[in-house]
Amino acid sequence: MPHTTHHQSGHAVQKLAKLIDRDRAHITGEFDISAGYVNLLGSENRASGIGQSIMQSTLYPLIYRPWRALGTRLMLGRSVASERALARDLLDLEVGDKVLDVACGPGNFTDWYGDVVGSEGLAVGLDLSPTMLAQAVAGSRSPNVAYLRGDALELPFADGTFDSASCFLALFLMPDPLRAVSELARVVRPGGHIAIMAPTAGPGPLGMVVRSSNVVRAVSGVTFVGRAQLAAALTRNGLTITTTRHIGMVTYVGAQK
Ligand SMILES: C[S@@+](CC[C@H](N)C(=O)[O-])C[C@H]1O[C@@H](n2cnc3c(N)ncnc32)[C@H](O)[C@@H]1O
Repeated sequence: MPHTTHHQSGHAVQKLAKLIDRDRAHITGEFDISAGYVNLLGSENRASGIGQSIMQSTLYPLIYRPWRALGTRLMLGRSVASERALARDLLDLEVGDKVLDVACGPGNFTDWYGDVVGSEGLAVGLDLSPTMLAQAVAGSRSPNVAYLRGDALELPFADGTFDSASCFLALFLMPDPLRAVSELARVVRPGGHIAIMAPTAGPGPLGMVVRSSNVVRAVSGVTFVGRAQLAAALTRNGLTITTTRHIGMVTYVGAQK
């Protein structure tokens, strides 16, 4: 495998490369790591909708971290530290774990997972957006973190590869969010944990309109899953829900396989 010239640790990239299921990734030759992350999608653009296009812009990833921190503080009354502590509890993260951060953006959770799981563990961040991943790689300081360009709807890993997997603030951008939930459940080992944070639609009439509106989806590229729908998807995929917290329009849910 060619050497990576970016900040990202070559050691972690090689650990990640060993975890990738080549059949699922449709890769026969060497992995492309020229941008500092494993790129499984080549130059393919899988952006669907306006929301996705914003994620792939040059500017938004640059301002994402402070923007996300501010939004979380104002809308959810949480600090970055308290949201991370919640993520750690939901995922039951321990030293030595292999953890996957699906739709990792600029790595705002992934890098911190690297600190928690320590040098014996591995934190992998997966995202569709090359510009988000460029930020993630540039800002990465942890030797046991590796990034991957791939699709949450088609995770390139065999069943049970990870001890835990998260997907924060991203299901709403996906054309088939419940398929992403199945994929999260699939790649976690029996006994492993998953954590999801997503804007959800409640049971009321407004919730029903938002949930069922193809117009909202077509114009904005945004999909709101229903709370009950999300819970049912988790149990259907063999998970037991351990924690559910609704804060405003956002739901945090933890589940164990
Ligand atoms: C709002 S950011 C969330 C970043 C981070 N998880 C957080 O909680 O702050 C949403 C991310 O989801 C990614 N994304 C959307 N659809 C995806 C898909 N199908 N596969 C992988 N990543 C996806 C976008 O590229 C974007 O980086």
